Parts: sequence; C-alpha cells; structure tokens
Amino acid sequence: MSIEVFAPASIGNVSVGFDVLGMAVKPISGYLLGDVISIESSDTDELLVIGEFADKLPSNKEDNIVWDCLGLYNANLRKAQQLVKPVKLTLDKKMPVGSGLGSSACSVVAALKALNEFYDGFFNDKDMLLMMGQMEAQISGSLHYDNVAPCFFGGLQLMVSDPKVISKAIPPLKDTYWIMAYPGINMSTKEAREALPDNYSRGQLISYGQHLASFVDACHRQDNPQALSYLVDVVAEPYRQGLLPKFSETKQYLLANGAKAAGISGSGPTLFAVCDDLAKAEELSEYLTEHYLQSDTGFLHICQIDVQGACVLNP
Ligand code: HSE
Repeated sequence: MSIEVFAPASIGNVSVGFDVLGMAVKPISGYLLGDVISIESSDTDELLVIGEFADKLPSNKEDNIVWDCLGLYNANLRKAQQLVKPVKLTLDKKMPVGSGLGSSACSVVAALKALNEFYDGFFNDKDMLLMMGQMEAQISGSLHYDNVAPCFFGGLQLMVSDPKVISKAIPPLKDTYWIMAYPGINMSTKEAREALPDNYSRGQLISYGQHLASFVDACHRQDNPQALSYLVDVVAEPYRQGLLPKFSETKQYLLANGAKAAGISGSGPTLFAVCDDLAKAEELSEYLTEHYLQSDTGFLHICQIDVQGACVLNP
C-alpha cells in the first residue's frame, strides 16, 4: 500500500522578508500546484520520476534531490539505530524548475514527509525542518528556509533567529487573492543570488527593518490594507528586476490598475500580485496572461494562502 504526499508551491521573501519570510499558496481552482511523492515498500531502493516537468530533471536518479533526501533520511535513521527498509519513491514533478515557486522545496518537503509517514512520524517537525533546510541548501548553494518552512507547515512563516525554533507562523491575511504568473522561462536561484550586492547602505537597512516589522505587525492585527501597503522589496527586487524580462513594466501596470502589491516570487521569474477581491484578480489575470507569459510552459493561477502545508493525499 502506497502513501501519497503533496507539498505546495510557495512565495519566498514575500517582498519584505528576504530569506526570512515565506508563504504557501494554493489555487482557488483546486488544482494541486506542487509536487506529489508516493512511497511504498520495495525489495530495493528505487526512484521513478513522472509528470509534466519530469524531463527537466537529471535522468540519473543519483542526481535527483529526492534521492539525496532518501540518503539523508536513512543516514539519520541509522544514527538513531533504527532499521532502514528499502522503498520505492515516485516523484510526480508537477512544478517547473527555476520558477521561483519553491519547486525544489516541493520535492524536498514531499520526499522527507513521505519518508516520515512511512516510518510513522519517527522524526519530529524540528528535525524534519533541519533536514529540509540542509537539502535546500545543497541545491541553491545557501541555507534559507523561506520555501521549505511554508511548504511544510503551510501559511505565512517567519524565520526567527532562535535556532531551536527556526520558523514561526504569522497570522495569514484572510480574503486576499494572490495571482501567481509563471512566464515559462527559467531563472536559477544561484544566479539570482549572485546579482545581489554584498553590502547595503544604512538607509536600505532601516527601510528593510521598517517594512518587515510593519508587515508582521499588520498581519497580527489582521489589517490587510496596511499589511499589503508594506510589501516593498529593497533587498532583492531592485537588483533582480533587470534579469526578468517584462517584470518592471508589468508591475507598474498592475499597481496602477488595482493590485494592492506585486513583486518577485522567490528568486523569480514568477511574478505575484495581490488583490483584495476576486473580480479584480480575474481582471488582472487576463492582462498578465497576455503580457507576462512568455512561452508555452507558462501558467497563471489565482491563489489563496495555503494554511495546511504538506499533507497526505490518501490518509
Ligand atoms: N530567499 C530566496 C532568494 C528564495 O530570494 O534567493 C529562493 O526561492
């Protein structure tokens, strides 16, 4: 009997919290935007990759991050003197790679959660998150939890400085619609990180602190207009927008035509725009489909905050 685990797409940074804020999203259509992994007993360890974006992954299973997740999970089981059993993992790669939607986090979170379900929840959430961060760092070249944490726990997650806590949930903004427009071109997270300066000015530092603190405060008060008005990125967007064709002019249009905020999802190229009513989100989606999608693999979803996070599909 196999266990099927789904892990949702996420927005890294959410404009105001570079590397420290992330949010899980789910399309209002019910479409599963994320990766699915199924796990079952087997005579030997196996990994099968299927799905729309399977051909974008290395054909050799040893080069797939899911295989590394299996290695890491098993190594930790052995350290805890637990018996390791061979498994067959099937990754349904539904997420485009290099999209800014937390695609690698989806695979990592789904794989590790599927393994933990198989072993009846042997590791606690904290141990799981540490493993997820380690795998994400292996792919992107630096340790950041802003995709794996919301993908795993759901909602809006803030990475706190206490290493014993790592991530804390912030009250999600109700009745907000997040348009996720993936243009169908790729952007490597490593490359997008290299575009950032090593140092920031005192003025930038103050704006960054103010925006993030004000956003978190407004979320706790459930003040949507104020929260959305603080979604300004002074750390990454000014340096990354030039790498993203059509981003700047599209964002300008969206803000002038009713979007409450817009920005780069993670390291891009996906653009997100936030609206406080569905009719406006639908209207702007039409514009984005026509003007921001740039290849056949591009897509757009109107989403809400996914408060559930990774889950078993066949409990
Ligand atoms: N915080 C990361 C970055 C997210 O912006 O580089 C990558 O998806």
